[in-house]
Amino acid sequence: MNSSKKTLLFVLWSFPIMLFSQQPVNIIPQPVEMKINTGYFIIEKNTPVIFNKTNAELTHAASFLKSHIKNISGYILPENIHGKNSIQLIIKKTEGIGTEGYLLTVSPISVDITANTKAGIIYGIQSLFQTLPAIRTNAALRVPCMTIKDYPRFKWRGMHLDVSRHFFSPDFVKEYIDLLATYKMNTFHWHLTDDQGWRIEIKKYPKLTSVGAWRVDESNSMWGSSPQAKEGDSATYGGYYTQEQIKDIVKYAEERNVTIVPEIEMPGHSAAAIAAYPYLSCSQQQQLPMTGGNYRNISSVYCVGNDSVFTYLENVLTEVIKLFPSKYIHLGGDEVDKTSWKNCAKCQALKNRLGLKNEDELQSYLIKKVERFIISKHRKMIGWDEILEGGLAPEATVMSWRGESGGIAAAKMHHDVVMTPGTPLYFDHYQADPTTEPLAFGGFNSLKMVYDYNPVPKELQGEYEQYILGAQANLWAENISTAEHAEYMLLPRMLALAETDWTPGDKKNWDSFNQRLQSHFEKFGQRGIRYCKGNFRPDIKPLVQSGKLFAVLSSEIYGGEIYFTANGEQPTLKSSKYSTPVSIDSTVTLKAITVVNGKMMTNNVAQQSFVMDKAVGKNVVYANPVSSKYFADGPNTLTDGIRGTDIIGKYWHGIEGKDLIATIDLGDEENIHTISLGCLQSYRSWIMMPQYVKFEISDDGKSFTEVKTVDNDVPSNTMTAIKDFTANFPEQKARYIRVTAKALKGLTKDHPGKDLPAWIFADEIVVE
Ligand code: ACM
Ligand code: ZN
Repeated sequence: MNSSKKTLLFVLWSFPIMLFSQQPVNIIPQPVEMKINTGYFIIEKNTPVIFNKTNAELTHAASFLKSHIKNISGYILPENIHGKNSIQLIIKKTEGIGTEGYLLTVSPISVDITANTKAGIIYGIQSLFQTLPAIRTNAALRVPCMTIKDYPRFKWRGMHLDVSRHFFSPDFVKEYIDLLATYKMNTFHWHLTDDQGWRIEIKKYPKLTSVGAWRVDESNSMWGSSPQAKEGDSATYGGYYTQEQIKDIVKYAEERNVTIVPEIEMPGHSAAAIAAYPYLSCSQQQQLPMTGGNYRNISSVYCVGNDSVFTYLENVLTEVIKLFPSKYIHLGGDEVDKTSWKNCAKCQALKNRLGLKNEDELQSYLIKKVERFIISKHRKMIGWDEILEGGLAPEATVMSWRGESGGIAAAKMHHDVVMTPGTPLYFDHYQADPTTEPLAFGGFNSLKMVYDYNPVPKELQGEYEQYILGAQANLWAENISTAEHAEYMLLPRMLALAETDWTPGDKKNWDSFNQRLQSHFEKFGQRGIRYCKGNFRPDIKPLVQSGKLFAVLSSEIYGGEIYFTANGEQPTLKSSKYSTPVSIDSTVTLKAITVVNGKMMTNNVAQQSFVMDKAVGKNVVYANPVSSKYFADGPNTLTDGIRGTDIIGKYWHGIEGKDLIATIDLGDEENIHTISLGCLQSYRSWIMMPQYVKFEISDDGKSFTEVKTVDNDVPSNTMTAIKDFTANFPEQKARYIRVTAKALKGLTKDHPGKDLPAWIFADEIVVE
C-alpha cells in the first residue's frame, strides 16, 4: 500500500471517531455504573450474534435483538458465525447484579452482554438499543465503547392503564408495553374491568362482554356530564379483548420481561358486570350500561350475602388465572359504596351470622375469601389500600394510592407494598400549565415531581424498607379516549418514574436526567410518538430564611431561563432575569415566564401573590375540621401570606359539605377596615363557591359583631374561578376575627354530583 492511500485510509477511519467521540450516551434509566471509552463498535449487516442455541431463553433474546436491528437498518444479522467482530449474549452466574441486572461491555471488536437471567440480557439489549438510532436511516449503527454494570433498585417497576373508561386497541396495548420495556419497567397493571366497561372475554359469562363491554356513544360529552343511557338506545361504543388476543399480548410482554398484572375489580366498580348479570347486585335489578361518571340509580357493587356471587367470582378468576402467568392478581377493592349492603337482607344476614361489626368487615370478609381462592391457585392477591379497612387479608400486597399512609400502615404490618400515591404518580393529572394542556382529571404532577419522588417514605426507612416492592404510576382514562392522548399523558413522566424505580437514589440527578431526556424527545419525534414538551410555567415557591420571606423561582425546562415582574405587568425579555431568591417585603404579585433560546413562553405565565397583612403568621381555629386530604402546608395555610392558585393540591384548605368557620386571634387589639377570604371554584372537582361569606369581629373572642356579609356572584356552572370575598367597613378596633363561608346545601342540579356535598376551598384571610 502506498503512502497516499494510507493517509486516505487514516482520514476515513479517524474522521468519524473525531467527529463522534464526544457523542454522549443518554441511557434512561441511568445505569448504576457506566464508563464511556473512546472508539466504537459498528454493527454491520454481517455482524453475527453469538449465543448458546440450546438455551431457549437466549434464542428468544437473540431474536428480540435481531428483529429490532432489522427494523432500524434492514440488516438480518447472522447467528453463531465465529471469527468476526460479534455481539455475544451470555447467561452465566454473575455476582452483584441480581436477577434482572446485566453487564454490557462494548469494545471496537465486540459487544458482550452478560447476565444471570434472560431478563438481564433483555435489559442489556435495551441499553444497547438506546445508543442506536430510533428509526431506519442510512446512518451507521455505531455503539460507543463502554462498560456498564447495572441492576434495578426496586423489583416492581409498574405502569397501569385503564382500558375500561375508554377501550384501547390490542396494537396500542402492545405499543404501551413496548414503551414500558424500553425503559426497563417490568410490570404492566392492566385495569380490565370497571363500571364503564368490562374488557376481558370470559367464556363462562359471555354477556360480560356482549353487554358489559359496550355503551351508548356519549364520547362527545364531558365525562361526568354525559346523559345516562335510556332503554332502547343502541350501545355501540367500547370493545374488549378476546382470550386469543390476551394470550398474544401476554407473550409479547413476556418477550420484553414485562409481567402483566390483570385487575378484576371487586366488590365495587362493577356496574358493567351488573348490567350484564343483574343477579350480582343486592337489588338484582336490571340496569343499562353506564355512559360516564353519573351513578344515579346504578348499582356498582356486588352483593356479599349471595353465594352465587362467589361462584361467579371464582369462575371468572379461574379463566383469568389461566390467561395470565403473573404471580399477582389484582382484586381492586377501592371506593366501595357500602350503602347497598346496609339495605340488603342477605348482606345483613351474613353480617349477623358472622358476628361482623360493620360493613367494612363485610368487605374484608369478601376479599379474604377471594384471597383464599387465589392462594389455592398458587397466586398472590394485591389490592388498593381500602383493603386495609375492616382487616387486611393475611397475605395481601397493598397498592397505596390515597397518599402513602395505607402503604406505611401495611408495611408496618409486614405486608408488601407498591407505592402509587395520587401525588405525584397519577398520570391522569396535569403535567403542565392547566391553561395550555388538554383537559385532565385535575391535580398537578409535573415531570420533576415524579422524578423527585422517593418510594421509601421516611417512616419506613430501615427495618420496613424491605416491604416496598417499588413504585407505579396509574393512567386512568376518563378524559383519555385516544392512543395519542394516552401517550401524551405517559410521556415523558414515565421516564422519570423509570429512573426513580431503577437507579439508586444517590445516583439520581435531575439536571443530568433532563439533559439525557432531550435525545429521547428527539427519538419520540422521529417515531411519531406524542409527548408533553414540559411544564413551561415557572414554579414560584416561598422560602423563609432567618425570619425573612423570599420567593424561589424555578423552571423544569432544560435550558429554560426565567424573567419576572413584581408590578403586575406581563413579563418580557426586558423584565428582570431571575438569578437568586426574590425578597418579599410587602404585598406583591410576582409574574414569571420561561424563556427558551430567546423564545418567550407567554402562554404559560406563572402568577403568585404574597400578602403582608395583620393576619400573617396568626393562628386559625376551625369550628369544622379541614379535610386531611386538603390540608395544604398545615394549620396556618390561611395566614401564611401565600395565595392559592389554580393548582388544587397546593395552598388551599378544603372542607367537604360543611361551613368553613375560622377564627383568628390577632394577639392584640388592632385598627382594621378590611377583611377578605379567597375561595376557589373548580366545578369538575366538586369545589364550589360558598353561598356567602360572613365577617365578624370581637374584643373577647366570645361575643362577635357582624361587620358585613358578602354574597357569591360566581355562576354555579363556571368551571374555574378564584374570588376574594371582601368586606370594607369604617375602621374599628378588634382582636378576634371570625369568617364563616356558608356551604352549599348540595351540588346544583346541573352538576353530575347533584345534591351530594360540595367542597369549599379557601385560601388566605387578609386583614387590614
Ligand atoms: C383509584 O384511583 N380509585 C384506585
Ligand atoms: Zn347484598
